[in-house]
Amino acid sequence: MSSKLIGPPMSRVDGKLKVTGKALYAAEYNPPGMVYAAIIQSTVPRGSVLRMQTAEAERAPGVLAVLTPRNAPKLAGADKYMANPIMPRLAAMQDSEVFYNGQPIGVVVADTFERATHAASLVRTFYVEKPASLDLEAGMGGAEPAQGNFGAPPPGHERGDVKAALASAAVRVEATYTTPTETHNPLEPHAAIAVWDDPEHLTVYDANQGVHFVRMFLAQLSGLPPDNVRVISRYVGGGFGCKALPWSHSILSVLAAKAVNRPVKLVLTRQQMNTLVGYRPHTVQKVELGATAKGKLTALRHTGFSETSEKDSFSEPFTNTSNMLYACPNVHTSQKVVRLNAGTPTFMRGPGEAPGTYALESALDELAHALKMDPLELRRINHADMDPEHNRPWSSKSLLECYRVGAERFGWKKRSLQPRATRDGEVLIGSGMATALFPAMRFQCTATVRLLADGSATVQCAAADIGTGAYTVFTQVAADTLGVAPDKVRMEMGDTVLPPGPLAGGSASTASAAPAIQNASKQVLQELVKLAIADTGSPLHGLAAQDVLTEGGSLVSRKDRKKAETFAQLLARKQLPHVEGKADTVPELPDKQKHSGYAFGAHFVEVRVDEVLGTVRISRIVSAMAAGRILNAKTARSQILGGAIFGLGMALTEETLRDPRLGRVMTADLAEYHVPVHADVPDIDVLFVEEVDPHVNSMGIKGIGEIATTGIAAAVANAVFHATGKRVRDLPITLDKVM
Ligand code: MOS
Repeated sequence: MSSKLIGPPMSRVDGKLKVTGKALYAAEYNPPGMVYAAIIQSTVPRGSVLRMQTAEAERAPGVLAVLTPRNAPKLAGADKYMANPIMPRLAAMQDSEVFYNGQPIGVVVADTFERATHAASLVRTFYVEKPASLDLEAGMGGAEPAQGNFGAPPPGHERGDVKAALASAAVRVEATYTTPTETHNPLEPHAAIAVWDDPEHLTVYDANQGVHFVRMFLAQLSGLPPDNVRVISRYVGGGFGCKALPWSHSILSVLAAKAVNRPVKLVLTRQQMNTLVGYRPHTVQKVELGATAKGKLTALRHTGFSETSEKDSFSEPFTNTSNMLYACPNVHTSQKVVRLNAGTPTFMRGPGEAPGTYALESALDELAHALKMDPLELRRINHADMDPEHNRPWSSKSLLECYRVGAERFGWKKRSLQPRATRDGEVLIGSGMATALFPAMRFQCTATVRLLADGSATVQCAAADIGTGAYTVFTQVAADTLGVAPDKVRMEMGDTVLPPGPLAGGSASTASAAPAIQNASKQVLQELVKLAIADTGSPLHGLAAQDVLTEGGSLVSRKDRKKAETFAQLLARKQLPHVEGKADTVPELPDKQKHSGYAFGAHFVEVRVDEVLGTVRISRIVSAMAAGRILNAKTARSQILGGAIFGLGMALTEETLRDPRLGRVMTADLAEYHVPVHADVPDIDVLFVEEVDPHVNSMGIKGIGEIATTGIAAAVANAVFHATGKRVRDLPITLDKVM
């Protein structure tokens, strides 16, 4: 099979639609009769709503309804939903309980957004307040063992005897690292437009990372059969995990539309993006390492805490990477959660792996320093040739090659072993590195490919392109397999009327959908060959199937290339509107019991720290990644750039702060919550190490959406240590911690 289109850089097929405003995002639909909703949020962290004074709001101009826990429509499936501990808690006005400050407690519907917002400000709420838990450190004594998220096994692992190994280790390091609460800040805010087509049928335009997933939740809550609910999310302006699961506003728009019997648009404000749609939980992590005098790891203990809400069990699985990243015979990991009166935490890019590698890879750097050993060399000698957690081979692993090419490009050899060795006036210069990794997963997916009579093709799969380039790489896979030009392929995604596609999460979307699209395309070709050889009117009539080639939109005899016809000629003669192929990807590795699948990589970072001001500037980054087959060099590079920049925010500036008395988010906008801007980001050199993985899936694809966000914060912290001699163990590395 030719592969001219898979691999090389290709610009986004949806680029022009996006820059000309023709790509419609969830909030940009305007069904007839549509009205607007605004959310009222609680102003106390815990208790219940006693009474809401709504008369003034109800009288305000343009107001159609003021919904509160007292009069909101009941959700048929709410009780069952809320009783399921693995479901994220959605505050949907089904009761009057308040479990965090900022929780939705009311919805105002009006003829304009401004009028709804104004009327919402007129509602006065009285509460019965209860004492709230707002401090993770204070709650550690009452912490509970962490559960797995959505049915995943709970974090934690044990092998060997870590206690004895630590006691007898020649060299030991022990440190506690913390990562703050972080908030996803996609450019496009969450939004939902709910339309009741009739009392039994619902359509929701909803900004999300997977329409079938959101439909499952909305149908369950509403008590409707899934087929009666249509969710549309064709273009998405970033998700980072906060659009993976549905949140209160989606179901509130459904309730509001029911109450006023009109389509209702509910768009979250930037402030609400910080309080209603999850966050990466604050972690406190302790890492203890033991090693021989030559640097062989003998013991690794990684334990700690993450915050969760009073009503949820979400845990940030930060110890998972410690189970498998290095060859170490004695390992113990375990985690606890502390329930706080805060919103529900959720997945955020590199969930577990990003904060976990900050702790582990910082500790490795501390161990290298204690051993007076090059930190890259320390990682090389502790390289895990097999997965030590499950005791089985990797599906493929090119980490040593990532170390090699990354170090070479970066010029790691020239680095001094001692910190504080390089300065430029009052600026101290240092470099650090860390390992990056992310599991190669995949989800259930179905794709349909149709070759049409005009020689063009349509591909349908309800996957999501959250800004990653999914439309483009799926187009490439279909075009390449079918042998038609990419501009003749129409990729349809983001609608539950299409065959179920994967969640754009877990870095698994491409690995899930591309093999299904390729297999469905292959079926189309087989079908065309079958049609031609059976058709007396075809120049290929009577040939054996293996003697017919499909190339460039034509069927060609292998032995006599003059015997040929185009796909379009065949379909026209047969009077067929199209030929269809349909294929599934099943979840998990086909031979998961035999191999462990991960993408691996390494970040090398140079920092310049102003000794007088304490400011940290990133001057260089080299990221070397091995992630199986790369489908599009351009969009893949962008994923690594975006992931690394996301990690720079984690390293240097991002921190969600809550008021310690009221539990209210104090950093609820982009003026207070600092994400990296262009001036913060240096040239990032992205290197892909070529990798052929015969086990992970039929196309050898691993994920690239999250790996670059892992390891990077540690690489920055390690570089800051190398520059200054100061170890910062609490993110973000702000100037007060460096001075
Ligand atoms: Mo991503 S945090 O797996 O949506």
